Amino acid sequence: QIDLRGRDFVALADYTQEELYTLLKVAGSLKEKQKAGNPEQPLKGKTLGMIFEKSSTRTRVSFEVGMYQLGGQALFLSKNDIQIGRGETIEDTAQVLSRYVDGIMIRTYAHRTVIDLARAATVPVINGLSDLNHPCQALADYMTVLEKKGRLEGLKIAYIGDGNNMAHSLMMGGAKFGMNVAIATPEGYEVDADVAKQSQEFAEQHGASITLTHDPKEAAADADVIYTDVWASMGFEEEQQQREKAFQSFQVNEELAKYAKNDYLFMHCLPAHRGEEVSAGVIDGENSIIFDQAENRLHAQKAIMALTMSS
Ligand code: CP
Ligand code: NVA
Repeated sequence: QIDLRGRDFVALADYTQEELYTLLKVAGSLKEKQKAGNPEQPLKGKTLGMIFEKSSTRTRVSFEVGMYQLGGQALFLSKNDIQIGRGETIEDTAQVLSRYVDGIMIRTYAHRTVIDLARAATVPVINGLSDLNHPCQALADYMTVLEKKGRLEGLKIAYIGDGNNMAHSLMMGGAKFGMNVAIATPEGYEVDADVAKQSQEFAEQHGASITLTHDPKEAAADADVIYTDVWASMGFEEEQQQREKAFQSFQVNEELAKYAKNDYLFMHCLPAHRGEEVSAGVIDGENSIIFDQAENRLHAQKAIMALTMSS
């Protein structure tokens, strides 16, 4: 029996394949019950504190609604409204919040901040995006692929674009689920070498493969899933122009999609920029499952909260 009570959810690397499948199973069952009008409420009377140092639409709303649906409540704590903005340390913040709330979600810049918060907090800490990874998104994404394809193992996912937080979490998650992950980035925008090495080790354990290339066509070849993300992530806005040049031949469009399988799925964590990382035809086309992914943020995070924050 898998027991995740008290665990942090900081990176997919910290979870075994079995634990990740448990999260997906619980997410599916919570989704079904919610839709049937028979919601489960394992977090009655509990509170999630949500620290935001960056903007958000999906993360904020899905955590807040998710907590409410589970019988609890969520507090939106923007950096400018709490004392972190005036220099209170993350460790003191962690200890104080731990006396009030039953779990803390944080969206921040440096991944170190998430680690420090998790270390100092006595309640579970959930990573709602750092510069290094975005595990809640990747979990929701793999839940969505599983719903659409009926399996994960052996599928090929091609990630085309920036070697960023999304690339890292998809690579790590894909390796854990036994998928073949191909990542095509422009030169100078490769994935983090340590995350790649660690993913490679997990891929070997689970009979999967990691391919890193600078050729989008090689990555897209025979892919079951094509995934992309913005060229300039939050915090990199001033590099927008230079990145537009570097990423020019990395747009996911009808031409590139021809290399994938006919029934490929197009995925994007959103927000998206039509005409930049993806053409309107692809993102709004029949292979696109972007809104199913967005919806599953809610269900996947409810599973994370229900399993880590239950008494
Ligand atoms: N995909 C995602 O995390 O979206 P938000 O930035 O809107 O939360
Ligand atoms: N890579 C993007 C993801 C946004 C959900 C960013 O960090 O801005």
